[in-house]
Amino acid sequence: MSADHTPPNDQAGPADGNPSRTETGTDTELIRFDSVTKRFGTHTVLDSLDMTVYSGKHVTLIGPSGSGKTTILRLLMTLLKPDEGTIKVGPHFLTHEEKAGKLVPAGEKHIREVRKNIGMVFQQFNLFPNMKVLRNITEAPVHVLGLDKDAAEERARELLDLVGLTEHLDKYPTQLSGGQQQRVAIARALAMRPQVLLLDEVTSALDPELVAGVLDVLRDIAHTTDITMLCVTHEMNFARDISDCVMMFDSGRVIEFGPPEQIFSEPEHERTREFLSAVL
Ligand SMILES: Nc1ncnc2c1ncn2[C@@H]1O[C@H](COP(=O)(O)OP(=O)(O)OP(=O)(O)O)[C@@H](O)[C@H]1O
Ligand SMILES: [Mg+2]
Repeated sequence: MSADHTPPNDQAGPADGNPSRTETGTDTELIRFDSVTKRFGTHTVLDSLDMTVYSGKHVTLIGPSGSGKTTILRLLMTLLKPDEGTIKVGPHFLTHEEKAGKLVPAGEKHIREVRKNIGMVFQQFNLFPNMKVLRNITEAPVHVLGLDKDAAEERARELLDLVGLTEHLDKYPTQLSGGQQQRVAIARALAMRPQVLLLDEVTSALDPELVAGVLDVLRDIAHTTDITMLCVTHEMNFARDISDCVMMFDSGRVIEFGPPEQIFSEPEHERTREFLSAVL
């Protein structure tokens, strides 16, 4: 099964069960994988994957360990290159550019421009250890986007308020708990005003009592902003709360997708049932 939600114009409306569409049919594709294959040696991790994420939607990837979820996010961050197929972000190819009507491998400049639309939060927070919280957040807007320092700081303060860390802006990462560091990492990703936020098991390295605070921040962002989210998580209640669409992966393919109530309550595939009974 392909997760390539058929383009809005080809279908009748939300009654068709496509969770990633609105009644107006004006949804725009933000991410599109076309026949993407990724291999490591002889191991095919993604097998001619088709996948579309519409702008403003929250899509959660679930599936067993090794099924290729992180690989998808790493391809979007251009930390990996596909062996075959194309990836589009908005109207632009991520790893290719069009020259004289032909698709050729993209240059660094093109890749950097397209990737500006994508923010990622990792399992390990990866904050800059030598910078205080505020500067962790302003660094990329100033140096990559060319924002002036005052504007970047104003935005950073707003984001620290959003993630509930205003009183910690003058601390170094090591002076914060894991949950607080992860909330800084979320603020830092948002500071670049990405169109899409990639979240890869962002609570799995946290002590259990810190998980809820981070998930609350993400719920808040999901419910109060129009940012598109592509999220890998084992937190099924969270996935149920925030997702417009849940995609079940196995062996590098989407075997089933749909709104969370369908996937969690009435999965069609035995593999999905097995997986959910192991994690729920
Ligand atoms: N750099 C690499 N070199 C070789 N193999 C790799 C590399 N990165 C990933 N793989 C392999 O690709 C497969 C998919 O990995 P990936 O990290 O995408 O899985 P995942 O679905 O995110 O799993 P998990 O739920 O455990 O995080 C795994 O079998 C993994 O061992
Ligand atoms: Mg992973």
